[in-house]
Amino acid sequence: MAEAKEFVLPPEVIEETIKASKELWKPIGKVKFRIYRYNPKEDYAPHWEEYDVEVSKGTTVLDALLFIKGEIDSTVSFRYSCRMGLCGSCAMMINGKQMLACQTRVVDVVGEKGVVELRPLDNFPVERDLAADFTKFFEKHKAVKPYIIRRDEVELNYPTGPYKQPPDEYAKFYQFTDCIKCGACLSACPTAATDYEYLGPQALAQAYRYSIDNRDEGFNERLAVIDTAHGCWRCHFAASCSDVCPRGVDPAQGIQLLKGLIIKKKLGYKMHRPAEALPAKVKPKEKEE
Ligand code: SF4
Ligand code: SF4
Ligand code: FES
Repeated sequence: MAEAKEFVLPPEVIEETIKASKELWKPIGKVKFRIYRYNPKEDYAPHWEEYDVEVSKGTTVLDALLFIKGEIDSTVSFRYSCRMGLCGSCAMMINGKQMLACQTRVVDVVGEKGVVELRPLDNFPVERDLAADFTKFFEKHKAVKPYIIRRDEVELNYPTGPYKQPPDEYAKFYQFTDCIKCGACLSACPTAATDYEYLGPQALAQAYRYSIDNRDEGFNERLAVIDTAHGCWRCHFAASCSDVCPRGVDPAQGIQLLKGLIIKKKLGYKMHRPAEALPAKVKPKEKEE
């Protein structure tokens, strides 16, 4: 077997990288963070507090919040986990717009007065300070049955082989699989602002994602939730949800496609031919008693 060659970065690339990194983290001045403070269990009303933080070109809003919590005021509450735009937990209102704190550089949002204003997501109850309460949001997500439903439960639980899904079928829902459940879309939706029970862009886009999946046979079950007074017909396609989505999911498009599916269904058209299970290449395991 040929020996693996050692890969060495050319010295000029290493030098350039160090230089760029130094430039990125060089302090460039102080920014004032104006933060919404509210603990519903203890406070009579919300109030604002201000904190000055030295930032560099590379400082994100989440970096600044972590600095405030670690060095200035440990009582400031917010949610985060991955720090790379994947878990969806750090969504908040940054200068009035729904954004991920870990994906937003301070220099990109700071105004002329050197202030960044942070508050919890609109259209959500406040858990504490910048952390919103996602209980209702996840109830709505759960209500649309965001999983593949098959009528043949024996095949589902004791599969004989994979389900057939050609690339063009996968392409129909691929963009909607990118949802990280950050809640930014629901927060930006004017319908959700006036109807607390409205399912909202995240749940409805996921209803479409699973209903158009050719392995799924559960559209009738989802209809009971999506074809209602608080379902997809409440959406008037303002698309503010898609405008703020940090993953380019375009939930507004998903909702309009979902409406199309319902109309097709009511007119008696077939949605798609459900995927068949392909014969197994190896013998499936015997059912365990
Ligand atoms: S659709 Fe976009 S904005 Fe809405 S929850 Fe998913 S990732 Fe967030
Ligand atoms: S397109 Fe529909 S779901 Fe999106 S913001 Fe507008 S009303 Fe809300
Ligand atoms: S911390 Fe995970 S998306 Fe920001």
